[in-house]
Amino acid sequence: MPNVLSNLENKVLTITINRPDKLNALNQATLHELSTIIDQAKNDQDTAAIIITGSGEKAFVAGADISELATTDVMTGMKFSSYGQSVFNHIENCGKPVIAAVNGFALGGGCELAMACHLRIASENAQFGQPEIKLGVIPGFGGTQRLTRLVGKGKSMEMNLLGDMVPAEKAEQIGLVNSVVPQDQLLATVNKIAQKLANSAPIALSMTIDAINKGLECSLPDALDYEVKAFGICCASDDKNEGTSAFLEKRKAVFKGK
Ligand code: COA
Repeated sequence: MPNVLSNLENKVLTITINRPDKLNALNQATLHELSTIIDQAKNDQDTAAIIITGSGEKAFVAGADISELATTDVMTGMKFSSYGQSVFNHIENCGKPVIAAVNGFALGGGCELAMACHLRIASENAQFGQPEIKLGVIPGFGGTQRLTRLVGKGKSMEMNLLGDMVPAEKAEQIGLVNSVVPQDQLLATVNKIAQKLANSAPIALSMTIDAINKGLECSLPDALDYEVKAFGICCASDDKNEGTSAFLEKRKAVFKGK
């Protein structure tokens, strides 16, 4: 059985981390499979939106695989951290909207995986955290950085230094997740959002993600300048002609990503 499952339906690709007996912990093989699937999805014209979730009812992803971590040294540790970061960067920059359907524990690499996605919807039983400190290490897949950007320095320091779990409701209050729903409604809710994104304008979606992500890494004048250029690119698209025509003709737009 593969460590990562994927299923394409109505332009929405659902990716499921599938090691339920290990609470979907990310070992190297799982990261590699995830990376390959993201690569394929990036280049697949039939995939317009992506959902990432975990197998079973207990965990989204309970972190990097601690049995592999136990045997790392300086060099293998750096290599593992760097590889995990590259996979998660790849998710963040795949050019298509990615939603984390957080169905349980999202700890360590699981919290980091969710944060690399563009939206996070959690079930009521979900728990978030960066507990690496309890293992004598720090987050290696972006946790010290993406968490700080999402929830601010104070809360990021608290979560990274104490390593305690943050329940879904609290995670929503601090801006770590977009919304929380009952567990039995999670996939239906996320599918509805993904379908909405899949029917939206692909170039404008991709430019929005890019402008927000790149803008966070530079000065406001540079970020606004980037927005000007991205706006110009959207104006040159067939989708912009379709979107504006559809509005004026009082009909639903049909976007083609051109
Ligand atoms: N890496 C490897 N295996 C893991 C794992 C991880 N990050 N998280 C859970 N597992 C395994 C457990 O070892 C156990 O395997 P076993 O049945 O072969 O012994 C199985 O998943 C079930 O986990 P268990 O700890 O028995 O479940 P629980 O309900 O008692 O506790 C957690 C759940 C999430 C609180 C607990 O598993 C945990 O703290 N996991 C580690 C979280 C972490 O530190 N992540 C960051 C890693 S860098």
